[in-house]
Amino acid sequence: MDRKIRRSMAAACGLLSLALVASACSSSDDKDSGSTGGGQTVDAGFKIGLLLPESKTTRYETFDKPLIEAKLKELCPKCEVLYQNADQDSAKQQSQAEAMLTQGAKVLILDAVDAKAAGGIVTNAKGQNVPVVAYDRLATGPVSFYVSFDNKKVGQVQGQALLDVLTKGGDPKRADIVMINGSPTDPNAADFKAGAHSVLDGKVNIGKEYDTPDWSPDKAQDQMTQAITALGKDKIIGVYAANDGTAGGAIAAMKSGGFTTIPPTTGQDAELAAIQRIVAGDQYMTVYKAIKPEAEIAAAMAIAAATGKDYVGEVTVKVNNGTQDVTSVLLTPVSVTKENLKDTIVKDGVYTVAQICTSQYAAACTAAGIS
Ligand code: BGC
Repeated sequence: MDRKIRRSMAAACGLLSLALVASACSSSDDKDSGSTGGGQTVDAGFKIGLLLPESKTTRYETFDKPLIEAKLKELCPKCEVLYQNADQDSAKQQSQAEAMLTQGAKVLILDAVDAKAAGGIVTNAKGQNVPVVAYDRLATGPVSFYVSFDNKKVGQVQGQALLDVLTKGGDPKRADIVMINGSPTDPNAADFKAGAHSVLDGKVNIGKEYDTPDWSPDKAQDQMTQAITALGKDKIIGVYAANDGTAGGAIAAMKSGGFTTIPPTTGQDAELAAIQRIVAGDQYMTVYKAIKPEAEIAAAMAIAAATGKDYVGEVTVKVNNGTQDVTSVLLTPVSVTKENLKDTIVKDGVYTVAQICTSQYAAACTAAGIS
């Protein structure tokens, strides 16, 4: 998917705080996204459809759903949220969206299982004058607004962390790394992969590389088992895993494959299990993407779209989704290792020390200075 980010114009617009000027910025191009004149009012309230993609990754049910719902309730107390999780099934997501439209949803917040298939959902909704906010994953079609992280940067942060730690141990080409990427239907997975390759290519030996259908931790485990068989356990010095679920699968494969020390393994999402693996020394890093601002921006975008207003808030950029330039907010990912875990995850209140340092991890926490 071709994505052109017009940062300079957006940055200039972002510096101007007057709503009038901001709206001039966002309507300067006929093919731009933005409010689609939903015509709803916060006073009367309306139905909002929230569609999340899967439940094997813990973020969706633990953070995204409750945080989006809470912000929607705050911004529009009379609104009603219709929620569905697609369990990685693109056809299921399509029927969930159709059911929401039938039930009278006036705006959709869509985290697409399959970006291209989701274009049908977006077009269908638009045909009924229902705007769509693309959440975390960009969809094709006439999307009104998009909020996510800078996903190429996520891949670069992962790749750089892996390269740095491998370099600390000697020549980073002394043996192989294994790359376990995300789901081929998720546009973010392509960005993570491209970002990681932009850092790693030529600097390390990539012994084996896989895409992971459905982001499934089990499939990641199978792939890692295959890699160990093909390369030999002594030839693997690092693992690029695109998120914490796939990292968990890869680490489980290495544990049953007889590794006594797990080579540096990356991740993403700051899942509690991954944070505990980092404390214990089984996983090297994760990428912390603060879900609260992402969720709250999505809620504000949904209310703006349904009420026919421009989104006012964080600085926007334009991201091209193959159909049009979409008014977007891209947040910044942060690398988390044992060293800065306390100053990031704990400081932001994502998890308490008590949640991380359960009895199994108490000694590792003390050794890492986390108490
Ligand atoms: C999200 C990640 C998540 C992955 C699997 C990506 O689109 O950005 O945070 O780990 O999907 O659900």
